[in-house]
Amino acid sequence: MAESMKGLKRTNRCTEISKANIGETVTVMGWVAKRRNLGSLIFVDLRDRSGLLQIIFDENDIGTEGFNKAQTIRNEFVIAVVGKVEARSGAINENLKTGEIEIRATELRILSEADTPPFPIEENSQTKEELRLKYRYLDLRRPDLQKNLILRSKVATLARTFMDKEGFLEIETPILQKSTPEGARDYLVPSRVHTGKFYALPQSPQLFKQLLMCAGYDRYFQIAKCFRDEDLRADRQPEFTQMDMELSFVDVDDVIDVNERLLAHLFKETIGVEVALPIQRMTYKEAMNRFGSDKPDLRFGMELKDVTDIVRNCGFGVFTSAIEAGGSVRAINATGQGEMPRKKIDALVDFAKGYGAKGLAYIAINADGTYKSSFAKFMTEDEMKALVDAMEAKAGDLILFAADKNKIVFNVLGALRLELAATMGLIDNNEYRFVWITEFPLLEWSDEDERYVAMHHPFTMPMDEDLDKLDSAPGEVRAKAYDIVLNGTEIGGGSVRIFQSDVQEKMFEVLGFTKESAYERFGFLLNAFKYGVPPHAGLAYGLDRMVMLMAKEESIRDVIAFPKVKDASCMMTNAPDVVDDKQLQELEISVVKTTEE
Ligand code: AMO
Ligand code: AMP
Repeated sequence: MAESMKGLKRTNRCTEISKANIGETVTVMGWVAKRRNLGSLIFVDLRDRSGLLQIIFDENDIGTEGFNKAQTIRNEFVIAVVGKVEARSGAINENLKTGEIEIRATELRILSEADTPPFPIEENSQTKEELRLKYRYLDLRRPDLQKNLILRSKVATLARTFMDKEGFLEIETPILQKSTPEGARDYLVPSRVHTGKFYALPQSPQLFKQLLMCAGYDRYFQIAKCFRDEDLRADRQPEFTQMDMELSFVDVDDVIDVNERLLAHLFKETIGVEVALPIQRMTYKEAMNRFGSDKPDLRFGMELKDVTDIVRNCGFGVFTSAIEAGGSVRAINATGQGEMPRKKIDALVDFAKGYGAKGLAYIAINADGTYKSSFAKFMTEDEMKALVDAMEAKAGDLILFAADKNKIVFNVLGALRLELAATMGLIDNNEYRFVWITEFPLLEWSDEDERYVAMHHPFTMPMDEDLDKLDSAPGEVRAKAYDIVLNGTEIGGGSVRIFQSDVQEKMFEVLGFTKESAYERFGFLLNAFKYGVPPHAGLAYGLDRMVMLMAKEESIRDVIAFPKVKDASCMMTNAPDVVDDKQLQELEISVVKTTEE
């Protein structure tokens, strides 16, 4: 039966008590993490969000009634304890913040009883994630998740104070917006008042923050919920949080400057990591050529090398036909992997195929300098030697080659590089390597849509040097866009914006909008530009991703209180769910099933 806490007031969280409090009487409240009954003594580990504290119940201190009550305590009961702080009677527990002390209880109240939880509430849980997500409120009691959410809260608070000091105003933007396709799929919200019409949930505050610049707010900041109906991955959620900003009268360097200082501040004050400033910058082109990725993990080498010129006229058709088709041949050297068994190499070939490769050619150099290779028979001795030299390979190394369109070659070798680094143990888990990726292409050709699409978004400014190519060679235009990458994850991105309505109209034209359709969708922005708009630029971080890396977690689900799973559902509430017919009728919506359940 639940007791009231009337007359009691919590004096401390569990780990706010230390040796300094010995002799004091305290009142603590929390959950029972563990109970050991030693006959005349009962030990309880009490848990709250700060950590664990040992309580000792002795009939001599608490009386018979209290002691009998203590005997009924089970795990996850919520209790209040009044007692005296003492030095530990038993051995000191060095793993606990409160390992040198214990509380000798003089009063106990059971505030809430608890059923046996469906899984143990413990650090490094071995319980399947699905079960934990179904009972997320129990999962969230686990110290690892509590640590992550406390870290997340700290990041948000530090960011707010920092941005405030830098002159940013926190301004909210609407959640119910007009749908502006481009980018990911929108989540739609039907309107009851305007039946047949829909709001869209924001994919980001992009247009509104630009309008705030038009309105003269100068520096805007917001911790904003964003929604994107995309396929989920470990670092993607359908709803996620951005730390979003926009600045007026600035160019690329100004945005980078304030953000480098923000990053240094956040990483120092939360996890004690010193970010060396300035952060390295690398153009998109260099990142692709050297690492096969626009979010390179720089904690290890194994760079890609272009060997196209060496094999251009060789006898291996796989290479020459890829080159003739306009592609390239590139390779990475997995140093010291020359002894890799055939089975493992075959597994790498399959891995590469998963990234679009037609195959993966290799040269394994034996300890005695002889080769094992899947294509040596098509090559001369000299050609083989030239390849080995170009790759700076030595006895015991394994060289892996991909030949295809550049896009596929980068994709395959970029992924292979990461895969090998993980299996070869090349990554230092304690290192934080930041890099700005700059000069992104403005546009990307979409085979699916048969048109150019914006690589960042349609409001991104082309580089001054490339402006005149917007008509003649749109695919070659570089953008004033930048991403901030940490350990191979894109944690943020942004750009300088187009602020001239003629350039913006031109951009929409290149993207295949007619003037009418551009105005229909984005008229409010194009019109706003006609009434005095400052040059402006901005950036947004994926807060979830940033905290995930700070916490050294593998999934952003571990830093989100109530995340969704792969099919975008919530295991705990069962959202999304059917709604009442009455609700649908009000919206004049009828559900037509076109696919089988
Ligand atoms: P972008 O689309 O690059 O830029 O998003 C900014 C950052 O948000 C994070 N992010 C995500 N995190 C979790 N789940 C997702 N589904 C997801 N999608 C994106 C990434 C990314 O770097 N308005 C622009 C910013 C600007 O130009 O100022 C924007 O949204 O870490
Ligand atoms: P094949 O002649 O198709 O048997 O291929 C000979 C070798 O080249 C095999 O090791 C294949 O895995 C490899 N290979 C095939 N296609 C490619 C490609 N596009 N890039 C690199 N290697 C390839």
